[in-house]
This record gives sequence, structure tokens and C-alpha cells, in this order.
Amino acid sequence: MSTPTQPNLPHRTSALSAAAERNKHPILETLRTLLRAQGRALEIASGTGQHVAWFAQHLPGWTWWPTDLRDTYFAELQAHIQASVPESLRDRVAAPRLLDVQQEPWPLEGARFDLIYCANLLHIAPWACCDALMRGAAQHLAPGGQLVTYGPYLEDDMPTADSNLDFDASLRARNPEWGLRRREAVEQEAQAAGLRLAARHTMPANNLLLVWQAR
Ligand SMILES: C[S@@+](CC[C@H](N)C(=O)[O-])C[C@H]1O[C@@H](n2cnc3c(N)ncnc32)[C@H](O)[C@@H]1O
Repeated sequence: MSTPTQPNLPHRTSALSAAAERNKHPILETLRTLLRAQGRALEIASGTGQHVAWFAQHLPGWTWWPTDLRDTYFAELQAHIQASVPESLRDRVAAPRLLDVQQEPWPLEGARFDLIYCANLLHIAPWACCDALMRGAAQHLAPGGQLVTYGPYLEDDMPTADSNLDFDASLRARNPEWGLRRREAVEQEAQAAGLRLAARHTMPANNLLLVWQAR
């Protein structure tokens, strides 16, 4: 999927994404400040499953539903769960299932979640996925639930780090429909779907963790 030098993409030379190994630590610490002791979480764009495996170990009151557009990494995802989640918690992670955010409705039988977690999707997918993510999340968040998006963004009132400008250019060169998204444009899509930006957390390596809730 990418070369190891690109910071937010898993690479196919190994079943592990080096970026996910790094960023799972600060993401977990931020999630701990946002989440209550127990709940139901849907992960969008799970990729290799390193995040869901880590969260399942460290947020033991939560149950997890990993999903992705493709089943390319489902075997790796399940291997990560087997290898790292204690047996007593493993049944808190559902088998991964296919979910394309652009599919309507999402194939979840109307289930609602306290957390919908989506890392590193918006810049590696067509812009239409942003609207689709926001609308799907609005339909599947339980009352008081939170959508968390994580990744690099552009912001109107903030200088963009050179590494993010380079990453944006490399994404656009690979696929003209990809690229870092303006946080303000994402907010507009969220607003149209009935969500609002409830919190903005700055994260290592010029990433943001954004929290979206029903308006
Ligand atoms: C860069 S990886 C991120 C993986 C993981 N969340 C992480 O942060 O390490 C992007 C993932 O988005 C998934 N994806 C792309 N388009 C999607 C869509 N329309 N719906 C759901 N997932 C999608 C890809 O299959 C891929 O697994």
C-alpha cells in the first residue's frame, strides 16, 4: 500500500504498520480521557487491526467491531487479536466485517455505538468518503456517543508542517482524489450530517484527534 517512509500508511512488506505501532500509544491515552469505563465501539477502516488490538487490551470494559472496505488485512487483524489480547478479553472483539463508508446503509443492522473510531481514512480516500463517514456515524452513534477521527489535517488558521505538505503532495501524486483534508471543510460535512466538532486534540507528528458529537 505504501513505502515505509510515508507516515500514515500501512506498508505491505510486513503485517505491521510502523506508524500504527507508534501512534497507538498517544491515541489510547487521549481516548482514556474521553471514554467512560465501558461501551460499544465500531472501528472504521481498521487496516491491519493494530489499533483495535491495542485498545481491546487496554480498555477492557469496551467491546469492539473492526471493519474495513477490504478484507486484505483481516487475517493479520485476527492474528493481532490472537497474539496480543488476553484470552479473557478476546470475545470482546467481533470478527472483522466489510464496511465501505460509502455504502448506504452501513451493513450493521441498525446497531448503535458509544464510540465510532476512524483513523487515517479521510486523506486516503475520495473526498466523498468524508460526507459518507459523517452521515453514517450520525446514524449509528448511540445517544451521547462520539465519533473520533485521527490523522493529519490542514487548518485555515494554523501553519501546516512541512512533513504534512510533503505527505499531501505524495498522496495527490499517487491518487488525485486523495490528500489532506481541511479541518474546516470536514466540519462543514459534519454539520450537514448533524454532528459538531466537540474537541480538537493535537497529537504527535502533526496529527489531530478530533471528537465529533451529535448537535
Ligand atoms: C491508511 S489505512 C489506515 C488503517 C488504520 N486505521 C491505521 O490508522 O493504521 C486506510 C484504510 O482505509 C480503508 N478504506 C479506504 N476506503 C475506505 C472506505 N470507503 N470505507 C472503509 N474503509 C476504507 C483502507 O482499506 C485501509 O485499510
